[in-house]
Amino acid sequence: MSSHSQTGTAKSQVLIFDTTLRDGEQSPGATMTFEEKLDIADMLDAMGVDIIEAGFPIASIGDFEAVHAIAKRMKRATVAGLARAINADIDRAGEAVRVAQRGRIHTFVSTSPIHLEHQMRKTQAEVLDIILATVARARNLVEDVEWSAMDATRTPIDYLCQCVDAAIRAGATTINLPDTVGYATPDEHREMFRQVRERVANSDKAIFSAHCHDDLGLAVANSLAALEGGARQIECTINGIGERAGNTALEEIVMAIRTRGDMYPYQTGIESKMLTRASKTVSTATSFPVQYNKAIVGRNAFAHESGIHQDGMLKNQSTYEIMTPESVGVQKTSLVMGKHSGRAAFKDKLKALGYDLGDNQIEDAFVRFKALADRKKHVYDEDIEALVDDNIATAHDRAKLVSLSVIAGTRGPQRATMKIEIDGRVVTEEAEGNGPVDATFNCIKAIMPHEVTLELYQVHAVTEGTDAQAEVSVRLSRDGNSVTGRGADPDTLVSSARAYLMALNKLEARGARVHPQRAAE
Ligand code: KIV
Ligand code: ZN
Repeated sequence: MSSHSQTGTAKSQVLIFDTTLRDGEQSPGATMTFEEKLDIADMLDAMGVDIIEAGFPIASIGDFEAVHAIAKRMKRATVAGLARAINADIDRAGEAVRVAQRGRIHTFVSTSPIHLEHQMRKTQAEVLDIILATVARARNLVEDVEWSAMDATRTPIDYLCQCVDAAIRAGATTINLPDTVGYATPDEHREMFRQVRERVANSDKAIFSAHCHDDLGLAVANSLAALEGGARQIECTINGIGERAGNTALEEIVMAIRTRGDMYPYQTGIESKMLTRASKTVSTATSFPVQYNKAIVGRNAFAHESGIHQDGMLKNQSTYEIMTPESVGVQKTSLVMGKHSGRAAFKDKLKALGYDLGDNQIEDAFVRFKALADRKKHVYDEDIEALVDDNIATAHDRAKLVSLSVIAGTRGPQRATMKIEIDGRVVTEEAEGNGPVDATFNCIKAIMPHEVTLELYQVHAVTEGTDAQAEVSVRLSRDGNSVTGRGADPDTLVSSARAYLMALNKLEARGARVHPQRAAE
């Protein structure tokens, strides 16, 4: 039996269940490629995550393959695959995680009256039967089975206890009580866990888990309250990405437990120095920027602006810092090499920034760094991160930007000329547009005809100064699938073209997909 599924886990140990690759990927536009998922899983494993929910295997062949590959690869972490309370889902999840050293099937069904009446059209008795049958089926395939009561926080406590009792009797080793719609308050949440654990006869046979959504900004507070109520597994995602307003942010819950050990006498196995890099990796893969003031991993999380704060910090860091930047892996921003810097120094810098790249990746990044250093007076750590992340994210793209020139100005129409390499062949096109960005995107459409909706176009500067790199995010959608691409370059139009192409590559690579919560039961 998996060590994580045993109930003998020390009382103070809290298991971290990361669902960046499943609930996180459900954020509109957060699609990740197969390779990005493997990289993220490796990073989560190295960071000490106990359980990695790698995807929803029945959703698509791509999802199945990613869960299967991650299950095969993980050395330490348990790998979970999600399944609705449907036989085909459970069998497919079982097939995907069977190859893991420690595999888990995570199956769920709705329990709240709202869901039963309007979505499932089933009675409470019917759902109890479903729980017994589906958990038993999963337990026949693997020893480690997690069962979730979807919309638990809007489920009457008596019925919730009956469901939990049924799931444990059928063999569930982890019981997850999700706040699916982000509705709970901390006091209610603590009480729900306390009561269910107290009232269900066999509750000591399972580990209880919290899975909170952030619709009211309470996900981390509710997760902490769940620990007080007896939960010992927290489900969370890097940067808090996830359905709607997202999930409990892994970095926040981990640092809250660590920094406030006086209030929360628990511990996790997470290496906190990896949190900043993890945040950047996920931000790059999903092309979701991290808000500047985001707790723990935001660019300003350790910046002190006001004179009084700076004065205090110079005298003693503890005046305004409750945790050190180093404890979450923040490097001091520094001016890096200029155009005369060599490969060795560049390699050292990449290592210091937390990258572990192969020789070809280093070489590609070095060529781009040199080109940037020729154009930009000061090259900062953030510049290097932006270009390396860009290289990593586009490494497997089918279509790549070769060159772009644009004629812009007050007298339109603006005109773009572009070369794109597709499947090893370089294609050139020209197009006009209502503005330079429109002309650039029209060029891509001329080379690769497609129908998509542009949902978002956003630009921000990577560093200060008018020669800063512009980082552009583009979100495209087609047939209910939306994906985001990101590009960085000192030229905003080049960044725009890169971002659009990255999104288009992702959209093309993605087939039809079933969504766990939106799919019909
Ligand atoms: O929010 C939720 O209820 C979920 C379940 C599938 C666990 O994500
Ligand atoms: Zn969720």
